[in-house]
Amino acid sequence: MNYILNILRRRRGDAKSYRQRFLYEPVTEGDTIATALTELNNREVLADTDGTPAEPVEWECSCLQKKCGACAMVINGRPQLACAARLIDFSRQEIMIEPLRKFPVVCDLVVDRSILFENLKTLHLWLSREAELPDRYRELAYQASECIQCGCCLEVCPNFCVNGRFFGMSSVPVTTRLLTEMPVNEAKEIAKLYARHTFAGCGKSLACKDICPKGIDTEKLLVNANAMAVWKRRKGK
Ligand code: FES
Repeated sequence: MNYILNILRRRRGDAKSYRQRFLYEPVTEGDTIATALTELNNREVLADTDGTPAEPVEWECSCLQKKCGACAMVINGRPQLACAARLIDFSRQEIMIEPLRKFPVVCDLVVDRSILFENLKTLHLWLSREAELPDRYRELAYQASECIQCGCCLEVCPNFCVNGRFFGMSSVPVTTRLLTEMPVNEAKEIAKLYARHTFAGCGKSLACKDICPKGIDTEKLLVNANAMAVWKRRKGK
């Protein structure tokens, strides 16, 4: 089956968005949205379904293996990675593609996600020396290490907004890792910042559950981070 990619576009420096539709004929069963966008941009002359010449579609990618998060976008209403979204898995012929909506749009499908990394800096999420991971936390820390900071969990979060006080789920995996690896007395500052910027603002809607392209169990990480940063500390454990 051939597909129509219906893309929400915006020129660099422009405030107005517009839609443009492109025909794509898959070459293999494994073709993804990333494959299709690459093919569109490789055409000698790119034209939409009305035959109107079009500029190449701007989007970001790096690994094309679900490892970097750069290609996160909203596809048929669901935030996901373009390099993992196989065309064969879409039942409708027309596929709606939009940039992530929670972040400022730079152009086309490119958004500015620098706030993700600024938030991690605010939370003091780094190790100042070698740390040890207790055996009982190994599986949890392994899951947390899978996070690629793509922002898909923030896209569906009803409480997150750029520059808000609540930093959202994307800060939880790194916090979890550090809280499991650092001695309790050294992790106090991280726990305090986590309580202010993550625990306090989370409405526990768990909209982020089942949305992570890496399959991270966000509920499990959240429960553990809350316990380590808030509940156990309040009880003085
Ligand atoms: S390009 Fe790296 S996750 Fe898609």
